Amino acid sequence: MRTILIVFLAALVAGAGCTKSPKSMRNFRLPDGDAGRGNAAFVALKCHTCHSVAGVELPAPTADPAKILALGGPVARLRTYGDLLTAIVHPASELSDKLTSSDRWKMGTSPMKPVNDVMTVSQLIDLVTFLQPRYRQLEPVYEFEYSHTP
Ligand code: HEC
Repeated sequence: MRTILIVFLAALVAGAGCTKSPKSMRNFRLPDGDAGRGNAAFVALKCHTCHSVAGVELPAPTADPAKILALGGPVARLRTYGDLLTAIVHPASELSDKLTSSDRWKMGTSPMKPVNDVMTVSQLIDLVTFLQPRYRQLEPVYEFEYSHTP
């Protein structure tokens, strides 16, 4: 009886993995981009007016300081390809976790305006290829406390 139940549950779990919602992005693949062209697109699309990028020399941001965010560098949660695509084409969907919660609260909505009507798909792919390796996983800080009673 128990075995039958386990087999049934396993089949249910395996089956659930196959049901794709119509909005599933599962088989979404983009061709490889070019980081150098991404760097050029970053300036051409004026991204540098609000963003510096860790380890890259760019003209200094010129926007109101409240709208400036440094991209790349050490982060607690590495950005996936999907995170960066979404951040670029749909900035209103979620505010960056690089901001403190109080900054997010003050900001309310993203001051970043999508450039979807002027950016080419190639520029988008190149931008993500340019930005992704600029992020680095922040090492977790472990604190050990040894209490030693002789
Ligand atoms: C008016 C200023 C402004 C411009 C121009 C701008 N951004 Fe942003 N961007 C922001 C701000 C502020 C945030 C943080 C709020 C948010 O998450 O939308 C942000 C967030 C991001 C993030 C998410 C960062 C992270 O690590 O969480 C990416 C990626 C990004 N921008 C890329 C771009 C690119 C590429 C361009 C050019 C096409 C661009 N931005 C243009 C202001 C701007």
